[in-house]
Amino acid sequence: MKVLVLAGSPRKGGNTDILADEFLRGAAEAGAEVEKVYLDDFAIRPIGEVGDVLGGRDDVRSGDDYLSVLEKFLAADVVLFATPVYWQGVSAQLKCFLDRLSCYIRKPGYDERMRGKGYAVVTTYGAADEGHWVTEPVKAGVRFLAGRYLGDVCAQAYNKGDVAKKPEALAAARALGEKAVESGA
Ligand SMILES: Cc1cc2nc3c(=O)[nH]c(=O)nc-3n(C[C@H](O)[C@H](O)[C@H](O)COP(=O)(O)O)c2cc1C
Repeated sequence: MKVLVLAGSPRKGGNTDILADEFLRGAAEAGAEVEKVYLDDFAIRPIGEVGDVLGGRDDVRSGDDYLSVLEKFLAADVVLFATPVYWQGVSAQLKCFLDRLSCYIRKPGYDERMRGKGYAVVTTYGAADEGHWVTEPVKAGVRFLAGRYLGDVCAQAYNKGDVAKKPEALAAARALGEKAVESGA
């Protein structure tokens, strides 16, 4: 089983990254092959227009790195979306990838590589009680992808590394990683 983390924060070693690593640790201990991709290291331009989505033209913005990340996505059995809350939503790095994925969904013949994946979310946010709804659009998107939503871990943390002081969040992320593999997604 392959588990892929799409790391949406530009802050390497930051709060979201720490939770993502705990998830990966749990998944690896449960026997998965794991990989983390820092989306900020890849140039992924925003989606062009609805016509590109309807036409399944995922390569219309050729020259950027989208297709190489897409290949990793398609090869994975479980995908963890790891994102800080930015302006009440997912980070721009993750949003650009998700928007571009809309083209793929409409591309004939690709369904079998998309269906049946397991998805999870880890997120961190600075303000108390502001993080949890970030999972809602992801959950809705997972239904659209004909995938399975495995769960999420949401933790309040602001400065770099703050989440490391929250053992219950770390344990929950690790347990989610284990569960993702053991559920056989
Ligand atoms: C551009 C930007 C926007 C943010 N917007 C929010 C927000 O809307 N709500 C919130 O609770 N925290 C917000 N934060 C705080 C981050 O979510 C918080 O610091 C988080 O732990 C950062 O995660 P990281 O260490 O993985 O980068 C924002 C931070 C930045 C840099």
